Amino acid sequence: MQTGDEYTVKIEKISTGGGIAKIDGQVVFVENSCPEDITKIKITKINKNFANADIVEIIEPSPHRVEPFCPMQKVCGSCNMQFIDYEFQLMLKKQIVEDAMTKIGGIGVPVNDTIPSPKTKNYRQKIQYPAAQKGSGRIVAGYYKPQTHDIVNIKYCPIQPEICDKIIEFIKEEAPKYNISGYNEQKHAGDLRHIVIRGSEYSGKFLVTLVINMDLSLRGGHKSDVVISYDYNDYAIATPSARNDNKFLALAQDIFEKFDEVSGVCINFNNKKTNVILGAKTVCVAGVDFVEEKILDKVFKIGSDTFFQVNPKSAENIFKYVKEEVKKFENPTILDAYAGIATFGIVVSDIAKSVVSVESNKNSIEKAKEVLRENNICNVEVFAEDTVKYLKSIKKKFDVTILDPPRKGCSLDSLDETLKHTKEKIIYVSCNPATLARDLKYLCEKGCTVESIQPFDMFCHTYHVENVVIISV
Ligand SMILES: C[S@@+](CC[C@H](N)C(=O)[O-])C[C@H]1O[C@@H](n2cnc3c(N)ncnc32)[C@H](O)[C@@H]1O
Repeated sequence: MQTGDEYTVKIEKISTGGGIAKIDGQVVFVENSCPEDITKIKITKINKNFANADIVEIIEPSPHRVEPFCPMQKVCGSCNMQFIDYEFQLMLKKQIVEDAMTKIGGIGVPVNDTIPSPKTKNYRQKIQYPAAQKGSGRIVAGYYKPQTHDIVNIKYCPIQPEICDKIIEFIKEEAPKYNISGYNEQKHAGDLRHIVIRGSEYSGKFLVTLVINMDLSLRGGHKSDVVISYDYNDYAIATPSARNDNKFLALAQDIFEKFDEVSGVCINFNNKKTNVILGAKTVCVAGVDFVEEKILDKVFKIGSDTFFQVNPKSAENIFKYVKEEVKKFENPTILDAYAGIATFGIVVSDIAKSVVSVESNKNSIEKAKEVLRENNICNVEVFAEDTVKYLKSIKKKFDVTILDPPRKGCSLDSLDETLKHTKEKIIYVSCNPATLARDLKYLCEKGCTVESIQPFDMFCHTYHVENVVIISV
């Protein structure tokens, strides 16, 4: 097999790298293909254990192909399953999880059917668009074309709430009027790096964050471009005079005044040469620094840099599922590790004896504390700390641990500490089947038993899939 060779193949299954065909036993990933397609493909790259190919011609389309509802689907590439019917997407996600479990985890437990998302359009309540400058001075913002840093200028995205398109278009139009330029990644120059929006199904409100290529280093005084003062709680505020003098504050104020749906506008300072979207410092310069989201009967506060599931309706199904599992215990003690804004901890607080939520992001813990105070919840303790460090500092054991790490999964230290501090069950919540399978393998080697694996469709029309695994210790 050589680059440029053409073959006619049948797509056998799907993976997170695209459809899979086999040529003389060799795995070939074919982008934008659907299982059961018969296609002519051209090899684009040969790697050690697999090859990549593009479709040259679809000879016989899979019966599961549908017309994508987004006109940008092919160019944008974010919704890489949108041309596959939804029922089949759910089946394919189950198959992706099964493959990870058997191939990486060596786990033979049957995977349940994927629980669908209650909403499959306009579901995404977290938008992070990179922004850049065109030669004409126009600002563009959207998603990167797959495998590139070329921005597809998106004016309409049917997986996010419609108002977000309007807010983003407004920012693109207004920013140049204030001499705000789009970011140039190669030159590390220009002003606006990202537009970040956090939305809420419950309140219909949106928190807008403008990520700018600047640092905020002076506290309580003047920075060359942004004048900020601090109130008695050490909370950064923009002074009225600053609003007149400063282009970013003026744009923020305009956004806030234009859209009733906007609860607040923040500026995030990120002048590092990095792919990380948000810098360490954020100030709220109009309205409030959160949106409220309701999960079951609890209302949470989501800030610009606090973690919250992107699809609150599907997340609610996960929270219900986890709560049902916790209900099997009488008055249990719960460890909520990698807690974010203590969402799991707070959701199960009324059926638990006590909960400890541990999270490394201080702002998330501050938001959790506000919710605990406002709802008079007294049996949840929150700690702004690294999970492993916290667990190493205590002797206590918990009946149930809810473990919800980032995509990279848990370190061995973290799994060891979790085991040491859990009496009965670990409920492992994961957005990455590969790292989940790796961690389950380790837990099984240490004597645990995987009881069930339940996929949820949190990220409709993409390869991504969320899972909840019940493990007995
Ligand atoms: C997938 S999110 C889960 C958040 C929360 N459980 C929820 O459902 O909203 C993972 C969280 O782990 C936090 N995190 C990452 N590394 C951590 C660490 N070493 N110790 C504690 N928290 C960490 C992140 O800030 C993030 O909030």
